[in-house]
Amino acid sequence: MEHLISSKDMARFVASGYLKYEDMVPEDLCKACREEMVDFGGYLGVGTPFEETWPKNTALGEAFRLPKVKGLIHSLLGPDPLYDHHAAHLVRAHTTRGPDMHQDSVIDFRRNYFDIQLSFFPADTTDEMGGTFLLPGSHFRNVRTGEIRGYQHVAGKIWATCPAGTIYVWNTRVWHGARSNHTDKDRYMFKLRLNPAQPQIRQFDTSDMDDPEIGRILSTNHRWEGNEHRYEIMKRVELWRYVSDQPDFDIGERFLRRREYQPQNQTITTTS
Ligand SMILES: [Fe+2]
Repeated sequence: MEHLISSKDMARFVASGYLKYEDMVPEDLCKACREEMVDFGGYLGVGTPFEETWPKNTALGEAFRLPKVKGLIHSLLGPDPLYDHHAAHLVRAHTTRGPDMHQDSVIDFRRNYFDIQLSFFPADTTDEMGGTFLLPGSHFRNVRTGEIRGYQHVAGKIWATCPAGTIYVWNTRVWHGARSNHTDKDRYMFKLRLNPAQPQIRQFDTSDMDDPEIGRILSTNHRWEGNEHRYEIMKRVELWRYVSDQPDFDIGERFLRRREYQPQNQTITTTS
């Protein structure tokens, strides 16, 4: 498999819940996708093999089969991912949106598991066009979908501003929402959700696995964590242990050891 993401990028995905890659889809294919996606709505076979289900001989079929896109999907999900759903999001020119921060789908507490969403922007998306916003690092906080609707202006929030051909890939549990389009141009974003078909362990490029930068990446402070930062890091380390297959990995002052050290489970020895 070519175009696998690095271990450092995987650590960024674990810490922040998203990655942004520009130049994923060439301009001519972007244009064809833009024309096609208006009539490309609807659910296909949920839970079926993506490769079998995803239409062939279409621009969008081609875009999500580009070697770079395949490498990205493989890195996060492993081989033979499953199709979940897709949607063509069109925000018309001069559309205003109220507060709509939410977490997608259903309340989901599965450990050592995540689905991905690919957000493909087939046209240049400026700040004023209202690209999707994300709250990096929020994916360890499960909520009841729209109950966070009222949270606005959270420190650390980012939003998609990018040239045509950019793909954001994100853990489906990241808090997110749509923004207002203040321009004269319609805004397009095509979303595709996929599930893994097997354990998401060491599916990325592991050649830089021992880079000390990984510890710093996992400790990223997105600014909203406040006093909870240390507890957020512990959640990230748990997921990093899983995806990197390093069950003893730890960070900082060995944060996880603090609660894993269990002398009360040892055999008692006495000196008398
Ligand atoms: Fe959503």
